[in-house]
Amino acid sequence: MTTSSPASPFAGAVVARTRALRREFGTDGARVAAVDGVTVAFERGRLTAIVGPSGSGKSTLMHLLAGLDHPTSGDVELDGHALGELDERALAALRHERMGFVFQSFNLMPALTALQNIRLPEQLGARPRPHDREWEASLIDRLGLAGMLGRRPAELSGGQQQRVAIARALAHRPAVVFADEPTGNLDITTGRDVLQLLAELVRGSDCGVVMVTHDPTAASYADRVLSMRDGRVVRESERSSAADIAAAMLEDAVAR
Ligand SMILES: Nc1ncnc2c1ncn2[C@@H]1O[C@H](COP(=O)(O)OP(=O)(O)OP(=O)(O)O)[C@@H](O)[C@H]1O
Ligand SMILES: [Mg+2]
Repeated sequence: MTTSSPASPFAGAVVARTRALRREFGTDGARVAAVDGVTVAFERGRLTAIVGPSGSGKSTLMHLLAGLDHPTSGDVELDGHALGELDERALAALRHERMGFVFQSFNLMPALTALQNIRLPEQLGARPRPHDREWEASLIDRLGLAGMLGRRPAELSGGQQQRVAIARALAHRPAVVFADEPTGNLDITTGRDVLQLLAELVRGSDCGVVMVTHDPTAASYADRVLSMRDGRVVRESERSSAADIAAAMLEDAVAR
């Protein structure tokens, strides 16, 4: 175990793991294993990127980790819970309380202000739990949102909206944040700023981030990069430059 991510006292503590995870789609005649025997662990206090070509199984793996889809075989454990032992209701409660989500398209409620969006999850929980206001205030401050809390999403830039979405994903102190192409709708500079903030917020916290991306620049902000091809994890590396990640992605893609 290396210690290349020095900031977090939680680095090394596993927050989610899979064991021989497999998800098949299709009928008997044409079955595809979108995830084909993945055994992998994700740590607290670290941003892990999952990269790979289109169709390599990245989103399927993320959906299985979040309990949004169910494996054909194998197991997922998240924050100490074996997801296979939970019914849909318990999975939904676990998602509410222990997971946060950041999507490419921001997914903010247009009629609500930035602050109301950040506080939406605490209102919707099965067991509503008020946010820790000190943590919420520090998120708002570190994400540079203080001056825009009363604005609705249409009055915010894409980068500002994504920063609100990150505050919303982290405000209830989840165990894991799942981010699917979080910079997909942002220009390069804005995307970098957003990822830099996300990575800094996570290092030193007990939350782990799992980020799916096509983009080597986005992946270069991760503490660890997993590369998928044909449903398998074919490469695992510690933090790397965008150029090295791009070269490895190209190599993996042509190694078919
Ligand atoms: N609901 C589904 N029904 C049938 N096949 C599916 C389904 N979801 C995914 N697949 C197949 O599983 C494989 C992996 O898909 P997945 O969406 O996980 O890829 P991905 O790596 O996220 O791709 P992208 O980068 O394009 O988002 C693909 O071959 C896809 O067609
Ligand atoms: Mg996908």
